[in-house]
Amino acid sequence: MGIAIAIDGPAASGKSSVARRVAEELGFVFVNSGAMYRAFAWRVVGKEVDANNEQAVLDLLQATQFECGEEEGVGTVVVNGVDPGEGLTSDSVNSTVSAIAAYPEVRERLVAAQRAYREHCNVVMEGRDIGSVVFADTPYKFYIDASPEVRERRRREQGIVDSIADRDRQDSSRKASPLVAVEGAIVVDSSDLNLEEVVREVLCGLKGQGLSLGAE
Ligand code: CDP
Repeated sequence: MGIAIAIDGPAASGKSSVARRVAEELGFVFVNSGAMYRAFAWRVVGKEVDANNEQAVLDLLQATQFECGEEEGVGTVVVNGVDPGEGLTSDSVNSTVSAIAAYPEVRERLVAAQRAYREHCNVVMEGRDIGSVVFADTPYKFYIDASPEVRERRRREQGIVDSIADRDRQDSSRKASPLVAVEGAIVVDSSDLNLEEVVREVLCGLKGQGLSLGAE
């Protein structure tokens, strides 16, 4: 069983970039759990299934195979033999993903795939419920936050049309595994920090918890 580092936070808080850099520093595999929810949302959109029609979404889930692997230290996801690629960040996926991520059966399937990574490697995984559910037993938990204004600005600068406020509301208020800063997580507010500064805070936190870094 490998080591898991959990990094959670709201949309555009910078957690993806931070998790990727921390994984590089440690030689761990980086996994974006959101990509798995996005991959299923991409299939829901592609099959023209109404994301609010729970039964139709669950029927499609039954007919969906996920292959979650790893390439050069980064998690990959293939859906029924197809790599969604850029489709993962399309406008229609942005506006559907939180609805399908709220269904407990969808979460159950994807949480199992997420947990499987730790069976054979050390992993830095980012998402919404990694510290609270997926790897609730890990001592290494971080919550990366940023003000709503800063997060909206970051997305605009990336040229992405995203319904951040909407997703925040849905992700925080849903019954199944809502977004929370779990007790014991080290909270980092990235509003006024650059990427390297946040990475440094996370690596310091890990060191403080006794996780020796790289070749040390
Ligand atoms: O765009 P951002 O990086 O903030 O989001 P993401 O990590 O790609 O996740 C997209 C959506 O998937 C979130 O808005 C959640 O609805 C859902 N998600 C989740 O429910 N649980 C996770 N562990 C990760 C993502």
